[in-house]
Amino acid sequence: YLRQAWQMVHDIPMVCAFSYDWDRIDNFQSRPDDIVIATYPKSGTTWVSEIVDMILNDGDPVKCKRDAIFNKVPMLEFAVPGKMPAGTEQLARMPSPRVVKTHLPVHLLPTSFWDHGCKVIYVARNAKDVAVSFYHFDLMNKLHPHPGPWEKYIETYMAGRVAFGSWYDHVKSWWEKRKGHPILYLFYEDLKEDPKREIEKVMHFLGKDLTQQALDSIVHHTSFEVMKENPNTNYRMTPVTVMDHNVSPFMRKGIAGDWKNHFTVAQNERFDEDYERKMADTTLRFRTEI
Ligand code: A3P
Repeated sequence: YLRQAWQMVHDIPMVCAFSYDWDRIDNFQSRPDDIVIATYPKSGTTWVSEIVDMILNDGDPVKCKRDAIFNKVPMLEFAVPGKMPAGTEQLARMPSPRVVKTHLPVHLLPTSFWDHGCKVIYVARNAKDVAVSFYHFDLMNKLHPHPGPWEKYIETYMAGRVAFGSWYDHVKSWWEKRKGHPILYLFYEDLKEDPKREIEKVMHFLGKDLTQQALDSIVHHTSFEVMKENPNTNYRMTPVTVMDHNVSPFMRKGIAGDWKNHFTVAQNERFDEDYERKMADTTLRFRTEI
């Protein structure tokens, strides 16, 4: 039932030009050393993908630069038939250890990942900055429908009628799942506040032990400024028919608290009131600025 409800929202072309091949996703065969990066969109997926890739390459940016991060870390559910190989196909061809990216809600992750006890890194970002980032992304991403005016978009977002559904359900259900599973739950705001501390957390979680020099190299290489100029991480190689960076760059601002430049006082009050209700049943807490 949950899947049907989710698909009803996502399979209508108005919402997203992706089409999901559920048989392939459901039957996806994980490997025990797969590393999963799970996020709600616009929460720092690309950032943490690059961090993980750097950690696996011992902090060596030369090894990391061999390919675009979105090729090295395919999105499990991604499929635009006839245009690109599906994420599941790309992954099937990759050597281990694979890093798998997904925006799927927790209940739709293929069970094989749980059966093998694969490590999962979940990255969450506060709801307001995600809304702003998503809005700009929907403006520039031609696979998503035009978001319309901001004042309308914010209502659509609160109702969960955007690609990958409700932010509230996503962050809460992944938070619950970490009980009993190897899930490292990270926050975008923490990464901004102290990247080295958070990168060390990821390093320990992956069972690696890097030198201070390697860690410093990762901090530098994965900073917003460096990633924005790196063609392997800034998505500028993506055809303009998919992403139009003249409308809004993928690497847009990379800060915490940009929502203040978009929300009116009235929108903020309405958002907060709705947020309280939707988040009343969780211990999960976010910072909307640092
Ligand atoms: P903004 O639109 O707020 O700038 P995702 O990779 O999940 O789609 O997330 C994209 C968001 O993460 C964008 O947010 C992008 O700028 C930000 N981002 C990407 N790399 C970053 C980095 N190294 N440091 C800070 N923010 C980063």
